[in-house]
Amino acid sequence: MDWLAGKLLAWFDECGRKALPWQQDATPYRVWVSEIMLQQTQVQTVIPYFERFMARFPDVQALAAAELDEVLHLWSGLGYYARARNLHKTAIMVANSGGKFPTSAASLEALPGIGRSTAGAIRALAMGQRAAILDGNVKRVLARFHGVSSPLTGTDTLRELWNHAEAHTPAQRTASYTQAIMDLGALVCTRRAPQCPSCPLAERCVALATQRVDEIPQGKRSKAKPVRRTRLYVITAPNRACLLERRPDHGIWGGLWSPPQRQPERSVEAVCAEFGISPSAIIEHRTAPVFRHSFTHFHLDIEPHYLRIKQQPAQVTDSGGQMWYAPDGAAPVGLSAPAARLLASLDEVFGEAPAKG
Ligand code: ADE
Repeated sequence: MDWLAGKLLAWFDECGRKALPWQQDATPYRVWVSEIMLQQTQVQTVIPYFERFMARFPDVQALAAAELDEVLHLWSGLGYYARARNLHKTAIMVANSGGKFPTSAASLEALPGIGRSTAGAIRALAMGQRAAILDGNVKRVLARFHGVSSPLTGTDTLRELWNHAEAHTPAQRTASYTQAIMDLGALVCTRRAPQCPSCPLAERCVALATQRVDEIPQGKRSKAKPVRRTRLYVITAPNRACLLERRPDHGIWGGLWSPPQRQPERSVEAVCAEFGISPSAIIEHRTAPVFRHSFTHFHLDIEPHYLRIKQQPAQVTDSGGQMWYAPDGAAPVGLSAPAARLLASLDEVFGEAPAKG
């Protein structure tokens, strides 16, 4: 067996993670959902989301039959919502073709949201196939081990790393090996402060031998992210229900529900007029300090505006992409993190709701 694979498997038996929820009953469905959740999100954050998701959607048929709103609801707070929309699309495709995931790399990679590494993970972890993965952790491990010092984004570098990944992946115990190399990246060969003295690969690690562990992987040239500014209008009726709008399917928070988001240049009166709210219907208008929500490519500075109004305007109904969201939060829809935060702050801003008679 390949030297690296042998060392990793021995290390895995002693130190690897074996009790993660998606490692129990590792079906293609469970592994697929976990891999999508783990794409941009840490294990500890994912675990409760995964458990809730599996309780509600135990199999691909249940997920396919669900409304997208409910899928987004269970995703709320995980971010990168295109993942949830693709998950739902893929579930429908799999359910429509007999309910079984395809087993070849090419047919898995044809499904929305499944790239080469995710397809490899599903095949290795759930299908007993010899398949390689190359996620962020694995890239770092292999780049250090082989002393690859170019940025890990270039086409040639990625080809080189994929070749290493394929070459090391053993035909025996592929699932354990796959989990092992991810775990090593997460627990030992970490980006900052890697634990080289306890690394099973230290003996042949090129980065360690050449004292370049800190330089590999080469840091992204961090361009300052642009800052955008926006307003969220929390429009609150006497029963404490808040007006939400469904966001377009594309762009940030696609398909999620949010308090109306408008440019700061637009006047409060103009925003109210859109909903048939006259200035005399506003009982109270408060603002709260601007807060920042950061995306991969920009920062969004949000100005919260809270409007308490006398009555729900007749023109806003629970249809056509608008709804009155009850303060108990029972409606199963997806909310962006800032939307959830603003809705949770209502009592703080306006005081406790008057007790119902
Ligand atoms: N990241 C991606 N897949 C993972 C897995 N199966 N276990 C832990 N972290 C992961």
